[in-house]
Amino acid sequence: GHPVSQSLSPVLHQRWMEHLGLEAEYLAIDGENNQCFHALLKDLQQGGYLGVNVTIPFKEEALTASTSPSKLAQRVGAANLLLFRDGDVIADNTDVDGFANAINSLELSHQPAHARILGAGGAAPAVIVALQQIGVGHIEITNRTASKAMEKADRFGIDFIDWDDRSKGLGGIDLLINTTSLGMKGQQTLEIDIHELPASATVVDIVTTPPETPLLAQARNMGLKVMNGLPMLVYQAIPSFQAWFGLTPPSPGDDIAFLARGL
Ligand code: ATR
Repeated sequence: GHPVSQSLSPVLHQRWMEHLGLEAEYLAIDGENNQCFHALLKDLQQGGYLGVNVTIPFKEEALTASTSPSKLAQRVGAANLLLFRDGDVIADNTDVDGFANAINSLELSHQPAHARILGAGGAAPAVIVALQQIGVGHIEITNRTASKAMEKADRFGIDFIDWDDRSKGLGGIDLLINTTSLGMKGQQTLEIDIHELPASATVVDIVTTPPETPLLAQARNMGLKVMNGLPMLVYQAIPSFQAWFGLTPPSPGDDIAFLARGL
């Protein structure tokens, strides 16, 4: 990725390797320091790596570098996992299961039926596909740049909402998900009035810094269920770890708490 120094993934994978007694190393490699992403992948492949996780801004490019993309990665249009196997580069997307399992871990008392996604950038497609996988029947998307939300609405068969209307019609929403960079450390705050959300609604912000964005603080103060990006981070890392080693990290809940203590 780039930048990659802030990534929590090395800490997480290293924790699992130590826990399971594996002699292995998971490194953060900044792709921007390299002339060409494809050439970097070749070097790593030839250097004997098992594979790589790919993060912003290379997830779309990672798919094109693959000789064998999974159906899911193709559907999302991005890959965050590349496995080097017998000269092949297998691409997969674990962000979808990461988000779906993070939602499932909330053990919501009713199946969410109606979701609104704020933002139509790189993080949105995996969230959309995950929501479709867990059976959310009505999904809306809104974005400052309307054309990007319209493109995603068309591609995934979901509804487009004008950015100026993001606070309207929240009364029937079960899940409100922020995938914009607004609210992240160093960024502007997301301006949205969420008072119309029902008491049963859940608000998700997929960032991890700060651990509680102003949006999540507002939702928590209203008594709503909230979730930041840590559960998704842990749940998307598990299938990668399984792909490298064929082993399953034992306790995602402990991992989330461990990472939260470091934030
Ligand atoms: P990219 O679109 O290059 O993939 P991203 O970092 O993945 O970028 O996504 C950033 C998201 O935050 C986008 O939805 C972006 O909206 P635009 O598509 O209109 O740029 C959103 N975002 C960033 N700054 C914003 C702002 N000041 N107001 C509203 N949305 C913002």
